[in-house]
Amino acid sequence: MDIPKGRRMNRLDELRSKIDRLRQESQAALDRCQSLKDCESVRVKYLGRKGAVTTLLGELTGFGSEERPQAGRLLNELKQQIEARLEAKRRELAAREVERKLQEERIDISLPGRPARLGHAHVLTQTLYEIYKIFAQMGFEVYQTREVETDEYNFQLLGIPPDHPAREMQSTFYTTQPGVILRTHTSPGQIRVMRERCPEPIRVILPGKCYRYEQITPRSEIQFYQVEGLAVGHHITMSDLKGVLTEFARQMFGPDTSVKLRGSYFPFTEPSVELDIRCILCGGQGCRVCKDTGWLEILGAGMVHPVVLRNGGYDPERYSGFAFGMGPERIAMLKHRIEDIRLFLGNDLRFLEQFG
Ligand code: DAH
Repeated sequence: MDIPKGRRMNRLDELRSKIDRLRQESQAALDRCQSLKDCESVRVKYLGRKGAVTTLLGELTGFGSEERPQAGRLLNELKQQIEARLEAKRRELAAREVERKLQEERIDISLPGRPARLGHAHVLTQTLYEIYKIFAQMGFEVYQTREVETDEYNFQLLGIPPDHPAREMQSTFYTTQPGVILRTHTSPGQIRVMRERCPEPIRVILPGKCYRYEQITPRSEIQFYQVEGLAVGHHITMSDLKGVLTEFARQMFGPDTSVKLRGSYFPFTEPSVELDIRCILCGGQGCRVCKDTGWLEILGAGMVHPVVLRNGGYDPERYSGFAFGMGPERIAMLKHRIEDIRLFLGNDLRFLEQFG
């Protein structure tokens, strides 16, 4: 700043030259700023509580009352100028940062994506779906009923009174509620459908979980699935049962599968049978799985007992029906040669991933 020649520098002139110096110095400092952090150091140095401009503002009291307003104005101008330049610098740096990020983190959208790993249905679910599909083709609908049942539905209405020896075969989980149990089979669903549909004809399968209080071994679990089947109508015969089950076995295990019905006993069917298929492992030669018989039992079945029909609301003089019950775990084990039923619920990926 020019100071008129021949005149002594007064306090105001002195301030002017300080201001000039600070203006240049702060500008140079801002020019060197590379980051918002650098900007902050500049702000502290000049405008902070102990900054150069702040200090000068604090010294205003030393001016005489005539000079003070002007000195104040000059200092405020400087302060505002530095603030404005700081702000401009900050914006410039922020924009540059955005630009840099855009460059550096640019995504190449033409790169092939990483394939997402697809899961798949559990092997048992797959087996259930296959069973549904086969029976759907023969006109059976899927009907689900409750897992928590009463002793009445699970046993009594199916011809199994309290002291019946058949209860021995199905060790039961009881609840604290008298008469309320976990179903030991899907057969109580037969009574539920009949009572709901009577007097309509019925053609349903009843899949679902069942529970038995038993030792867990490679062949039996305490929780397992069953698929029950029930057909009720005016002219249903044993041949219908045989036809439906043969068709099921051939679709499930292959068109050449030989089947045979073997006489058996269930309290809720009369007559009762079991369906065997020719051993799919040895072809009937005899092996460990079929215990050298050449045959594998895959389900229980029979003509619905007249008492059961009546319990469901159907007059056994005018209606007849067949029923069957199978274990999908057993079907899956035979089909896929799985040797231990515990694998189904074991959650071992090495096992599960084989069925993708
Ligand atoms: N409920 C029987 C069981 O759990 C299986 C069964 C056998 C069901 C014969 C049926 C049937 O509907 O007719 O062992």
